[in-house]
Amino acid sequence: MTVSLDTIISLCKRRGFIFQSSEIYGGMAACYDYGPLGVELKRNVRDAWWRAMVQERDDVEGIECSILMHPDVWRTSGHVANFTDPLVDCKTCRARFRADHIDGYKAKYSVTGGSETTVSGDFNKGGEVTCDDGDFGPWEVEIGSEIPTKVIRPGFRLPDGRILDSVEKIQFLGSPRNCPTCGNKTLTEPRLFNLLFRTHVGPIEDAASTVFLRPETAQGMFVNFENVRGAMRRKLPFGIAQIGRSFRNEITTKAFVFRTLEFEQMEMEYFCKPGSDEEVYRHWVAERFNWYLRYGVKRENLRLRQHDADELAHYSRMCHDVEYNFPMGWGELEGIAHRGDYDLTAHMQATGKDLQYFDPETNSKYTPYVIEPAAGVDRTVMTFLIDEYHEEEVKGEKRVVLRLNPALAPIKVAVLPLLKKRPEIVEKCQALKDALKRRWRAVYDETASIGKLYRRQDEVGTPYCVTVDVDSLDDGKATVRDRDAMTQDRIEMDRIEEYLAERLVLSPPKVTTPAPL
Ligand code: GAP
Repeated sequence: MTVSLDTIISLCKRRGFIFQSSEIYGGMAACYDYGPLGVELKRNVRDAWWRAMVQERDDVEGIECSILMHPDVWRTSGHVANFTDPLVDCKTCRARFRADHIDGYKAKYSVTGGSETTVSGDFNKGGEVTCDDGDFGPWEVEIGSEIPTKVIRPGFRLPDGRILDSVEKIQFLGSPRNCPTCGNKTLTEPRLFNLLFRTHVGPIEDAASTVFLRPETAQGMFVNFENVRGAMRRKLPFGIAQIGRSFRNEITTKAFVFRTLEFEQMEMEYFCKPGSDEEVYRHWVAERFNWYLRYGVKRENLRLRQHDADELAHYSRMCHDVEYNFPMGWGELEGIAHRGDYDLTAHMQATGKDLQYFDPETNSKYTPYVIEPAAGVDRTVMTFLIDEYHEEEVKGEKRVVLRLNPALAPIKVAVLPLLKKRPEIVEKCQALKDALKRRWRAVYDETASIGKLYRRQDEVGTPYCVTVDVDSLDDGKATVRDRDAMTQDRIEMDRIEEYLAERLVLSPPKVTTPAPL
């Protein structure tokens, strides 16, 4: 079934998955808090990823790096200069967009060169800028005329590929596109906006104390490549994985936790020998696509999309996105990028440290290539909530059920009394719940009738409910109800843990179908 985003947002708030951040102050835009059930679901998503990427493999090591890194890491990685989005405003309704998010957006410019030549062209994304000062690009905006004019320093790349070697002028002639909100042809030209969050170390806020909140976890793996390789005596190929928070000052944030200012990434850098990279790339695209199927995402809601050359990140040679069919349309869940030797080479040049690999088999040295599967925890959580949401009619009543894979379900089992007024029943329930709690997240609830209690657990995806009734006092058995089939089994209470252990499989079988590359 297709579910609206509003339905999911409302479920998340009502049942304690995800809340708006700082809600009682009116909310902090694009920031969210995970509630008691959300935090469990998120932990389970992380664990499922870690199991597949580290625990079940022999060729990947895990690390956890600090969020604040030496600021030069981000100069070297290209993020200070190139991690930009093209920002467009509507002068009529003041709506703000990313130019590359407006369907068919093209800004029209004319460029006058020092050599008196004039070039007209369509610059998407505000044109491609080659930086000559290692900082935020050579843009300088001269406002003051109806049509803003930019002064371009040497190094600017024209649409025809020429790189200007003298001071040039570029004039914005307007956009043929209408504003997607108000329909007027009053979109400003794209301004490149850097997404890095900055802060300061120490009491003095100046350029020397500026540090960045990491925009990706990946650089932690690159700068620790030699540490991990040496400490773990690794030979190529091998990977380094990390889960952690990243920060981006996104221009347009929308669609719940899809794009937020602060989010969690699950990233792995797989270092391999140049020449083997194509096969490694195909392997990881298939592995990652199949991971979502393994944990229950419906095949028809997933697709792979290769990046066009003009949308590749500055470090990327090739990239495939795993996309999900969200209520607001297809969106990126994860990118699998071929980063080549971009990062290791850049860090070697910046630090003078040798990050090449000595291959004992060929007795030669080379810089490894890197294939990077990079996923977002929050988008994955959102995907499972949407994909597993079902409404059905049972005996004339609406039943909402989250058919989450048991490995992901926030609560694995709820123990419920049929009669809360019978202390012997309550006692048995509590004892059973305490026993199961040692192994899984188990809860006890007596605050409604049994029918209502089942519905509550269905709505948050609890795979099993165990009900203790009057008969249990005589025969020592309880009823185990299955969330999906709604079947009920009478099981000896001292066998319930074993019964559940067979069904609450944390590592479902791997899916091995070839990726639709
Ligand atoms: N190291 C590569 C990298 O960071 P990315 O495609 O920019 O690649 C990887 O990010 C994943 O992180 C995305 O596929 C997405 O799931 C998640 N992500 C990126 N920006 C996000 C944001 N602002 N909010 C939520 N998730 C985000």
